Amino acid sequence: MTPPPGSLLSAQDLRKAYGPTVALDGAEFSIHAGEVVAVMGPSGSGKSTLLHCLAGIVPPDSGSIVYGGRELAGMSDTHRSALRRSDFGFVFQFGRLVPELTCVENVALPLRLNGTSRRKAERTALDWMERLEVDGLKDKRPGEVSGGQGQRVAVARALVTSPRVVFADEPTGALDSLNGERVMELLTDAARSTNAAVVLVTHEARVAAYSDREIVVRDGRSRDMERAV
Ligand SMILES: Nc1ncnc2c1ncn2[C@@H]1O[C@H](COP(=O)(O)OP(=O)(O)OP(=O)(O)O)[C@@H](O)[C@H]1O
Ligand SMILES: [Mg+2]
Repeated sequence: MTPPPGSLLSAQDLRKAYGPTVALDGAEFSIHAGEVVAVMGPSGSGKSTLLHCLAGIVPPDSGSIVYGGRELAGMSDTHRSALRRSDFGFVFQFGRLVPELTCVENVALPLRLNGTSRRKAERTALDWMERLEVDGLKDKRPGEVSGGQGQRVAVARALVTSPRVVFADEPTGALDSLNGERVMELLTDAARSTNAAVVLVTHEARVAAYSDREIVVRDGRSRDMERAV
């Protein structure tokens, strides 16, 4: 099976079952650099499972995932984890910031884990926090900031390593519509400016409107939606 030409990350015929529950039943996916793709579909249809497989977090039972010309399944666990740290960024529904660390330490964390010095990591972290308009919160802990602010801190953390792919699973799911739109605007602007691809899982058409293309997952199968413009 060959990935579509020009794609940065693609998947073909992905299957994944949890015991008797079929989560993915032949899903396909592809995204190229700088593209924002929304993954939509009803609850339980397999969206998060697809994202976790594409990010190399969950191994599919069968099918192929190719990132940058290499098959994920062919890599060692160590190589896959290193790739996740260097090339991928993650934003989840509830920021999942580390409560004991300050906001700037949270944003700097992926760089620290990659071996960057504290000084340099925090300087880069602060640049990203400025872009996300949360630099004023640098010394606060996640428990002391609002949901929308926390999500912008989480977006800064996802982008701080200049990832090639940002995986966002319901990044605005816990926010009101105004904050949700602001987070989407900042996330997609930042990603476009660094030519990162964004895999955006969402229930909301309003959030998917920030994407270049939508795919719909139903019963573990995906299909492209032609956007009516
Ligand atoms: N770790 C797991 N163990 C067992 N079953 C799971 C697991 N993860 C997902 N499933 C099941 O796989 C199916 C797909 O789940 P998934 O989380 O991918 O759906 P989703 O589309 O992200 O749903 P939602 O919109 O509610 O987040 C569901 O039936 C779910 O119950
Ligand atoms: Mg989900």
